[in-house]
Amino acid sequence: MPDRHLTSLTIPRPDDWHLHLRDGEMLKAVLPETSRHFARAIIMPNLVPPVVSSQQAVAYRERIMAAVPEGATFTPLMTLYLTEATDPEDVRAAHTNGIATAVKLYPAGATTNSASGVRDFEKVRPVLEVMAEIGMPLCVHGEVTDNEIDIFDREAVFIERVLKPLRKKVPDLKVVMEHVTTQDAVDYVRDSHKNLAATITTHHLIINRNHILAGGIKPHFYCLPVAKREAHRVALVQAAVSGDKRFFLGTDSAPHTEANKLQSCGCAGIFTAPNTMSCLAEVFDAAGRIKKLEDFASLNGPRFYGLPPNDDTITLTKGDPVRYPTQIETGDGPVTVFDPGFDLHWRVED
Ligand code: NCD
Ligand code: ZN
Repeated sequence: MPDRHLTSLTIPRPDDWHLHLRDGEMLKAVLPETSRHFARAIIMPNLVPPVVSSQQAVAYRERIMAAVPEGATFTPLMTLYLTEATDPEDVRAAHTNGIATAVKLYPAGATTNSASGVRDFEKVRPVLEVMAEIGMPLCVHGEVTDNEIDIFDREAVFIERVLKPLRKKVPDLKVVMEHVTTQDAVDYVRDSHKNLAATITTHHLIINRNHILAGGIKPHFYCLPVAKREAHRVALVQAAVSGDKRFFLGTDSAPHTEANKLQSCGCAGIFTAPNTMSCLAEVFDAAGRIKKLEDFASLNGPRFYGLPPNDDTITLTKGDPVRYPTQIETGDGPVTVFDPGFDLHWRVED
């Protein structure tokens, strides 16, 4: 039964299970856009230099907390950037002491600031074994970096070449396949019944590769993993609106200044923090599944991470189109907000 008649929805306050907050002036400007609607977020460690140690995670968390606006409550869930030199005992201590919630695996060179990522997976095996022992999830950027592999195939190839062997070697490791973009990834997650989940971004539910390339190149739709063909987008929407506990929201909101986006070699990343909940509500409503937004944005993530859902709630209401700024100002320059290309009728009540 589609729930299209609904014009109001109250759900536990959502969390964002994959977020880039950056640092300095950018952090100050983008954090309020997330803390307005979200209670917690998994914070990506790809700063320059990356957050590799528990000490760096503590310092970064303090800088984040200092940027939380007055009156807002926001809990950053920190991650450690996995390198071939990561000390398993530092990871264990960071988890035990509540400093780090997860570890992030970037294959070296896969995306923005990933040069110190992993090349030889055998080298990080001792860390992964400790994580499996203590139940600490590994967040995975699931793309191979091999130049021989077509950029549109990098996720599917990663599953075969890296993820399957890795999960066979360390079967008790909890893995989040982040920002999945393909039917292949959706199928792989659906076929695994233990220790595997996937996050899906807001923008990958809305754009396909035509949005990036047809009728002129659109740098603001360029992110990694790059959006795939329409059939994949449809598979992602089906997974997201299904209520399946293995799929949950990780916006991958990734702000870059306009200057860094608009150049001959522009940065990958889409900034969706301000309008994410409106965009998602529109997508779920169009699928006749607005009620499933609760599972996707508020329940499935905490469940996988072994955390309680948030106590307080947000209410979304449907009405006249809501306007969001096209850009936000930051001390580093303007950042463009994701344009879904359709009107947004759902707003988050204050
Ligand atoms: C992210 C960024 O800008 O840090 N970019 C992106 O396109 N998603 C890095 C990432 O998560 O891949
Ligand atoms: Zn990301």
